[in-house]
Amino acid sequence: MNSFELNKIVMVLLLTVLVLFGINGLTAAIFEDEHGPNAFPIEVEVADEVAVAAVVVEQGPSLADMLAMASVDKGQKVFKKCKACHTSDNGGKNLVGPNLWNVVGRTKGSLEGFSYSSAMKAKGGDWSYEDLDAFLKKPGNFVPKTKMSFAGLKKPADRAAVITLLRSFSDAPIALPAVAVPAEASEEVLEEVSGD
Ligand code: HEC
Repeated sequence: MNSFELNKIVMVLLLTVLVLFGINGLTAAIFEDEHGPNAFPIEVEVADEVAVAAVVVEQGPSLADMLAMASVDKGQKVFKKCKACHTSDNGGKNLVGPNLWNVVGRTKGSLEGFSYSSAMKAKGGDWSYEDLDAFLKKPGNFVPKTKMSFAGLKKPADRAAVITLLRSFSDAPIALPAVAVPAEASEEVLEEVSGD
């Protein structure tokens, strides 16, 4: 069982407990009535957690969630598949593929001295986390006719791990995406738990 499955189970349990116990009962039990006026903001916080749990259970973790949980160590293992074609050190030479130092946030197909496919040069934009995830899932889907002849990484966790490693190939790694509470889901769950 991998950690995401475990996570899901924990989320489901948390959700079940919270729903069974009732958010109102929970806040009342913890904060009693003398804290009446303070109870509301705390209730919202608990409900937000339930909302996140509900979304994670329903849709699986987002890329931001995956990146927040990914480890550079695991990334190193996955990167063994890339090393035949890519160096990762600052100023490292280009092999079959371009050197990957500072690749996160770099303009696609822009490294001086590497001869990219015209497909890659025409793709445009910077390597965001989303784009790296899409490219590494199936390079030929994201950039049809790319020169990168690599089948892709099917497992979202492998992609998150290797992207976390790519991010570390920099003196100033760019910020990870924020793990956000989805606003709609939060409202929905709030309505459900408050019974409005
Ligand atoms: C068989 C060789 C090969 C393997 C294996 C390979 N790549 Fe590549 N990679 C390339 C080539 C060639 C390009 C240039 C693609 C083009 O110009 O269309 C590239 C491009 C890239 C780019 C875009 C770089 C830029 O400057 O725009 C990234 C990011 C990348 N590879 C990451 C990876 C990762 C991560 C792995 C391992 C999971 C990997 N590659 C495995 C050959 C490879």
